[in-house]
Amino acid sequence: MDAARGKQMDVGEIGLDRSHLPAHDAGAFDARTLFAHPERAFELEIGSGKGTFLVQQAVLQPETNFLGIEWTAEFWRYAADRVRRNELSNVRLLHTDATEFFRFWLPDGIARVIHLYFSDPWPKMRHHKRRVIQDESLRHFHRVLADGGELRIVTDHLELWKWYEEHAARNSHLFAVHPFVSPDSAKAGEVVGTNFERKFAREGRPFMAMTLARLPVPSASRSSCEQSTGRPRSAPPDPSSP
Ligand SMILES: C[S@@+](CC[C@H](N)C(=O)[O-])C[C@H]1O[C@@H](n2cnc3c(N)ncnc32)[C@H](O)[C@@H]1O
Repeated sequence: MDAARGKQMDVGEIGLDRSHLPAHDAGAFDARTLFAHPERAFELEIGSGKGTFLVQQAVLQPETNFLGIEWTAEFWRYAADRVRRNELSNVRLLHTDATEFFRFWLPDGIARVIHLYFSDPWPKMRHHKRRVIQDESLRHFHRVLADGGELRIVTDHLELWKWYEEHAARNSHLFAVHPFVSPDSAKAGEVVGTNFERKFAREGRPFMAMTLARLPVPSASRSSCEQSTGRPRSAPPDPSSP
């Protein structure tokens, strides 16, 4: 896995790691403050890989701040270097486990969109707990999204798609399933146009996509829901062992 092919990578001020975050028990961390214009709309991408989606879309949405989260150091470095070279001041790349970042750091109601494209399928049953989408992570995505916010998902993996559909059905009190709308940066015939999509398209794989639109929390159940998703509860795992 040599994303950089021997090139010297410079993450500059784009690439951030856990050392840039406050202690997990220091209270919520508003990631919008990482940007020069924190008042702008905020979107997150989980598993940014080489940063293709961010580089393509951020240039078309200069008034939106994008935070990509990537736990593989090599890809994180590659993507941050790429964003720096493209001089995109509205993108940051964080090197950490995205599910832990949502659970232990992010406050309520700050994000407009969460992007999750070609997430690792973890096909073995004993590894299913490593999949990004879980009942618990959906509760945190719902909490971190603002009113009207969306979780956008694309996969090529049929069994993972079934898992997504089951989780969406079980959490229909939190999200409504809507059709996926491709971003403006997708080329003709593409769903999103990430690196993995292009690789899988050459292999002729099918793509499945959905948008999970955040539903408002009914006022009667708001306090119990907030209690069940409150943070922090316990220490996050060691950042060096994703
Ligand atoms: C199959 S790749 C897809 C990359 C990119 N989204 C694309 O479509 O080209 C999945 C990426 O998600 C990252 N990843 C998986 N689980 C993650 C997590 N919990 N937090 C952060 N990154 C994660 C992996 O390291 C990998 O780079």
